[in-house]
Amino acid sequence: MKATALAHPNIAFIKYWGKLDQELNLPLNNSISMNLDSFYTKTTVEFNDFYEDYVMINKKISSGIEKSRVVEHLDRFRKLAGVDMKAKVISENNFPSSAGIASSSSGFAALTLACSSALKLNLDERTLSSISRRASGSSCRSIPGGFVEWFMGSSDETSYAESIEEPENFIVLDIVAIVSRRKKDVSSTEGMKIFNPYFYARLAEVHEHLCFVRNAIKEKNFTQLGKYAEKDCISMHTVMMNSGLFYWEPETIKIIKLVSELRKEGTECYFTIDAGPNVHILTLPENEEKIRNRIQKENEKIELITSKPGGKARIIDENLF
Ligand code: DP6
Repeated sequence: MKATALAHPNIAFIKYWGKLDQELNLPLNNSISMNLDSFYTKTTVEFNDFYEDYVMINKKISSGIEKSRVVEHLDRFRKLAGVDMKAKVISENNFPSSAGIASSSSGFAALTLACSSALKLNLDERTLSSISRRASGSSCRSIPGGFVEWFMGSSDETSYAESIEEPENFIVLDIVAIVSRRKKDVSSTEGMKIFNPYFYARLAEVHEHLCFVRNAIKEKNFTQLGKYAEKDCISMHTVMMNSGLFYWEPETIKIIKLVSELRKEGTECYFTIDAGPNVHILTLPENEEKIRNRIQKENEKIELITSKPGGKARIIDENLF
């Protein structure tokens, strides 16, 4: 009863920040993201006659909250399959956890698919996405491929993500500038619990952002996509800052300004940032070299990693143990 899955992390164009229901992990709004093909998590799960659950992530034995989040997810699958076998889980990212890439999105998506396959549950994509959401909201968007929308829903069954465009149909690049590798002081889960009135202000505008981004993806309108993704990122960070959460570093602002300079000079690019200081620059393939050279000219130490839209979470043959 062993299986291995691979999943890509995703970057949100319309952000998820705030929960309607903590227990079910239902969000306050729909969100839209793109899977990142340069990054992935591979996870092998085996259910067997083990004495206890064993979890190893990036060659380190897990304990504390990290392990309990995985064990809670294993429990969801044990309940579904009607088994009480313990599990061995080995998971590896092709990027360091400290790179500021949302490893929980690819991590829980890969764990979800590997558990379902190991227990021979044959779940469809919608159910997989919905179960993954319980472990970490953004991970439900790493189950389907390419450009994905997470429908907030109002129950466990109605809150799931679905692909709105295949990865090969719209080649948008994400160049992530790694400003800091330090682990963030406040996790997304904890950060979004600090409620303030700006959450309401964000909800008043997020529906407009969603419509523009969804249509931009369907119509392959990069300008509209970038403009509204950037607006939505600023909207989310305004909420965060009102909760006293300043995820940006001085270098973050420098890159934001550089993006706006490049745009004025005619190189089309936009920025988006998650709960951390690293800046994701969105652009089209013809602008990649110019943007990379320009950032590297300002700061040669900054690491830049380019991704194209990535595929869906999938089962692979190569087991990690
Ligand atoms: C800023 O999915 O990590 O990246 O559901 O509590 O696990 P939990 O939160 P998580 O939050 C991600 C927040 C974000 C925006 C986004 O990806 O939409």
